[in-house]
Amino acid sequence: MTTRGDQEALTAEQQLAIVQQKLIQAQRLTALGELVSTTTHEFNNVLMTILNYAKMGLRHKDEATRDKAFQKVLAAAERAAKITNSVLGMARNRSESFEPTDLAKLVEESLVLLERELRNHRISVETNLDSVPRACAVGNQIQQVILNLLINARQAMPDGGRLIIRVEHSADNATVDLMIRDTGCGIPAEKLPRIFEPFYSTKQGPDSSGKGGTGLGLSACRHIIESHRGRIRVESTVGVGTAFTIRLPVYQAPPMQLPTANMTAPSTTSASS
Ligand SMILES: Nc1ncnc2c1ncn2[C@@H]1O[C@H](COP(=O)(O)OP(=O)(O)OP(=O)(O)O)[C@@H](O)[C@H]1O
Ligand SMILES: [Mg+2]
Repeated sequence: MTTRGDQEALTAEQQLAIVQQKLIQAQRLTALGELVSTTTHEFNNVLMTILNYAKMGLRHKDEATRDKAFQKVLAAAERAAKITNSVLGMARNRSESFEPTDLAKLVEESLVLLERELRNHRISVETNLDSVPRACAVGNQIQQVILNLLINARQAMPDGGRLIIRVEHSADNATVDLMIRDTGCGIPAEKLPRIFEPFYSTKQGPDSSGKGGTGLGLSACRHIIESHRGRIRVESTVGVGTAFTIRLPVYQAPPMQLPTANMTAPSTTSASS
């Protein structure tokens, strides 16, 4: 808790840092709220499938129809389990500390949450999530970044398109790089320098799924990535598409303390290029 006296003692820079932190939290809550509505809807669809096929199995006594009904019920229940696991993963992932983080897993969990929305907008997803070292990151913050980038990409392709997602290890920089590319409308060169500004948005308020338009998504992404000593980069061509790349330091295990040691541990450098 900070008192008024403390507040006055804070430098303008410190106050700015506090406000930025609050903004990131607010953006996370907005993003979560939007996802809750998407996933509840999706969950309901899966339940309807289960109910309908269970009824069909009860009505038709022949083996072939019952087998088909069971298969459908099984597939739908598996999908329901995947959805709850992703939501639970997000809820569990509350830690605010830097830990070894599997970026590919975060991408997969985020895609489960957005799968239906992407399909409805006729967006195909191509992933290349080769195994890469773990990044040094706060998992829930990076998931916030990934969701923001995926939702922006989806909104840039109102008539469908392709979403290409890749993770790569850059051994030279000791980083893990995640690229999210879309074949959407692109961003004009004169607007590109502004997209990370808070409240900069070209969207006319929330879309049909209730998402977008505040202009806080990318500014939260930038703050999060900078606090990880990483980089976020964008390349875009109008009419062709946009690619965002985030680059995070590889997690380096702390050096082991030798029992006899009275020596200085070698310093580990986490590179951010
Ligand atoms: N993949 C993309 N393709 C085209 N334009 C994009 C893309 N990502 C971001 N933009 C542009 O950058 C602007 C800022 O994005 P940002 O995510 O910060 O805000 P927003 O999506 O408008 O609102 P929200 O706060 O709900 O995310 C967008 O309004 C859009 O003009
Ligand atoms: Mg956005």
